[in-house]
Amino acid sequence: MTRKGEIVGGLLAPHPPHIVYSENHWRNEPKSECGWEVLRWGYERARKHFLAKKPDVLLVHSPHWQTVIGHHFLGVPEFHGLSVDPIFPNLFRFKYDIKVDVELAEMIAEEGRQDGLITKLMRNPNYRVDYGTIVSCHMINPEWDIPIVGISSNNSPYYFSNEMGQAQMIKLGQATKRAIEKSGRRAILLASNTLSHRHFTTEPEIPEDMSREHVYEHSGYLWDMKVIDLMRTGKTRELISVLPEFMDHAVSEVKAGGLAWMLSALDFPDYPGELFGYWTVIGTGNAVVGWDPQLKAAATTQGAMA
Ligand SMILES: [Fe+2]
Repeated sequence: MTRKGEIVGGLLAPHPPHIVYSENHWRNEPKSECGWEVLRWGYERARKHFLAKKPDVLLVHSPHWQTVIGHHFLGVPEFHGLSVDPIFPNLFRFKYDIKVDVELAEMIAEEGRQDGLITKLMRNPNYRVDYGTIVSCHMINPEWDIPIVGISSNNSPYYFSNEMGQAQMIKLGQATKRAIEKSGRRAILLASNTLSHRHFTTEPEIPEDMSREHVYEHSGYLWDMKVIDLMRTGKTRELISVLPEFMDHAVSEVKAGGLAWMLSALDFPDYPGELFGYWTVIGTGNAVVGWDPQLKAAATTQGAMA
């Protein structure tokens, strides 16, 4: 009999291409001098903590794979190609080789279907994987030696309402949890979302010139601090209830649903999320935050609750 699977970690894992650019990894063609260190060091600490759990699979929900009808899943064992960011082709031209846990993807799709969601597998081997999926996975596991399950973001919050979109994501999170338990996998979930999302529209001559990087607007920053506080104090049900407002007031990327999906799969943690790092990228707010269901406490002393 297969052992019962479990979610061994959940991370808010934002995906600005700038942080892969400033890592200077061989897979990414453009090279930088440095940049956005606080976020990259945060990812480094998160990676150390969560990869030590030896996960079998990383699941990632990305805002940059938008599907109008239903929730789609990468459904081919391997994808290879070059991912170019449409807005920042000067920063992100990334050669990817991705292994997919197709069996688990199929199980989540089936669980979702049984609960009334429309689900579908992406079976096109030439499909170009989006940069949101790639950046979050790369920052957590730059070795790319763990298979992933890639999940699209259904468009319902954009053409219907924030609340309808979030309700879909809560169902999808529960379907994801049930499928992981049946699969026997040890899984880590990545919610590939930025927080406040108003941003600059011009780029400095040197993109990694950190003298130009700062919060875009105070109101967005205040919202970020509010939602981070709810994360760090384990108030995720309250967090979920304010997210629709956050989406409207700070044009937050959590609108695409990744954070709600993940918190639902984790059964809305009442233990603290560990803040590994917060910084802006072209003015947008980005936080790396991890929930450890085994530890049920902040992962390190840094950033722990008073
Ligand atoms: Fe994005």
